[in-house]
Amino acid sequence: MIRWNPYTPGYFNNPYVHLKECRELAPIHYGVHNEIMFFKYRDVKTILKSPSFGVTNLSGFFKEKELIILGESACPFLSKGTAKWLMYLNDKEHENTKQLVDSILRQFNFNPVIETAVENCIRANKQNDVIDIVDISTQIPLYVIESFFGIEGMCKLQELKKFSHLLAISQDMFVPKSVYREINAVFSWAFDFFGDLYNKSDAATQSNIVTLLKQADSLKPTDFTNDEIISILIVVFMAALETTKDSMSVILYEILKNPELSDWILNADDTAINVLSEELLRYVSPLQYTVRIANENCVISNQKVNKGDRLFLSLAAANRDPEIFEMPDSIIFNRKYNPHLSFGTGVHSCLGAKIARNEIRNWLKPVTRYLNEYKLDDKAEPVWQKTIFMRGMHSLIATRK
Ligand code: HEM
Repeated sequence: MIRWNPYTPGYFNNPYVHLKECRELAPIHYGVHNEIMFFKYRDVKTILKSPSFGVTNLSGFFKEKELIILGESACPFLSKGTAKWLMYLNDKEHENTKQLVDSILRQFNFNPVIETAVENCIRANKQNDVIDIVDISTQIPLYVIESFFGIEGMCKLQELKKFSHLLAISQDMFVPKSVYREINAVFSWAFDFFGDLYNKSDAATQSNIVTLLKQADSLKPTDFTNDEIISILIVVFMAALETTKDSMSVILYEILKNPELSDWILNADDTAINVLSEELLRYVSPLQYTVRIANENCVISNQKVNKGDRLFLSLAAANRDPEIFEMPDSIIFNRKYNPHLSFGTGVHSCLGAKIARNEIRNWLKPVTRYLNEYKLDDKAEPVWQKTIFMRGMHSLIATRK
């Protein structure tokens, strides 16, 4: 009997072989920690949309474990840093926080910023004979985020990649104590950094997330403390950078490997680019899993679920389910029916989906044109992250043709 195991040989290079086996041979089964694993599209979607399930409480988990993880001496930031991470809030607290962040994202005009980000990135890398695809994939969302946060050259690229990556790992499985300590340290840094940004934002000449948050608070006072506001800033920063960088680097890898895909993009009109962007998002599924907790006893596809059970939902396996997607393991450039779950669905669906879509649609053609001058060396292989929940690369080198 097959059982999901992310340490199956080859999993990090290509999780889809193992996910396919799970979906076909044991679409619902108990995992090693007694969580119930779901791999089929219809089950994953039903659970995401159902009010019978809530999200886990990451901040509460850290509060319980902080002393064990960090010891007596360290200042605990794990629980405080994640206190307002929307994907771990339920009911009214979630609704209020989501409303606030959504109203702010709607006010900011992302499109010109995205266009400038693409131009800047290509200009900055034009002369390079050797490029790291992951750096290119970080620079575009990073520029967008810098503008949205009203910061310039906030840190060196490598530091920033590490910061955002560590925050993303805080949600992963099997995280060693030493890594939690590193995450605690970056949270501590982030509280200083974003706190400073918040305090100095009155001097800002242009609107950004911090000034908009302050404005929203002055119009209709929120109950958020300063620390909670900083936790919100941190989650938007992490959610916006990490998933976009991961999806972009895997998409660019596919483009470099597949000249037909590259030609299609270069000749596509706007509609074809939009259709292809959705297909690429389905294919790469940057967030591969999400977790839910049962609020009540119920049954899903004949599986009994008890109140309090922990459910692991594989968005990546659902997005390759042949019951929904024809030829699911291929990129079908003009796939018309594509109800993918890469942005989730239901009350916790991605707040940044519109922004992420606009980013991809904007960079797909110019970046492909730029990459046409580069090739992957015969032996070039991506260095895949050893993360389970988010799939991405540490590095992929391409050289000028
Ligand atoms: C390709 C890029 C992106 C992908 C694939 C992605 C994916 C997702 C997914 C699957 C969820 C739902 C998680 C769940 O149900 O447990 C989510 C939630 C979220 N995303 Fe994204 N995301 C992307 C970009 C962004 C951007 C650019 C932002 C911010 C500007 C953002 C902010 C958020 C937030 C705040 C949530 C939590 C929503 C809630 O819990 O109500 N994401 N994202």
